[in-house]
Amino acid sequence: MSSLHIFNHPLICHKITMMRDKNTTTKDFRELAEEVTMLMAYEVTRNLPLREVEIETPICKTTSKVVAGRSVGVVPILRAGLGMVDGIVRLIPNAKVGHIGLYRDPETHMPVEYYCKLPVDAQERTIIVVDPMLATGGSAVAAIQFIKDRGCKDIKLMNLIAAPEGVKVVQEAHPDVEIYVASLDEKLNDHAYIVPGLGDAGDRLFGTK
Ligand code: PRP
Ligand code: URA
Repeated sequence: MSSLHIFNHPLICHKITMMRDKNTTTKDFRELAEEVTMLMAYEVTRNLPLREVEIETPICKTTSKVVAGRSVGVVPILRAGLGMVDGIVRLIPNAKVGHIGLYRDPETHMPVEYYCKLPVDAQERTIIVVDPMLATGGSAVAAIQFIKDRGCKDIKLMNLIAAPEGVKVVQEAHPDVEIYVASLDEKLNDHAYIVPGLGDAGDRLFGTK
């Protein structure tokens, strides 16, 4: 069974509460998504490989550590996952970004793929799959499978809000993938939306409703 990391940091809790509020504007929602992602990225990247480089401080020559070359690939699940990309790329500017296009069929709630493009050297990187919402888990399970089918082995999943149902589905399908969530909510409703959740993350990020 993969590990589930839940963030109880006060700043993350505060910002997630603001994202849940239906009166929060599109502009603020977008900024908050990026900020929460950036705060979470600190923990998600804890085990990234380092290498030694030689540098000169104002005092002397020394060796010091930097993040090793081809270390990270970020893969947002389109479209709401796009709202989390900048939060990671601002911290790791050399990260490459792949995209997986999935939407939930409104009737069946099953994921339908419409796009997939990963970095050519994705297999050499730690792949961080990002999507604000983990509801039934269908989209995440499918996205992770596409990434594995292309040879990637080191994969992490990062969500802002998850339902227990979705966490269980991902853990069963991909026991090797660690899951990082800012909040683990109560349940899904009859339309497979997370309760209390924050509504439709894509619509709130892009102002489409
Ligand atoms: C949302 C969300 C996830 C998916 C989660 O996307 O961003 O991708 O639903 O649901 P699941 O865990 O039940 O699969 P949506 O299909 O609404 O598409 P969008 O990002 O284009 O808004
Ligand atoms: N997708 C969303 O955007 N929100 C939910 O609550 C569930 C799926």
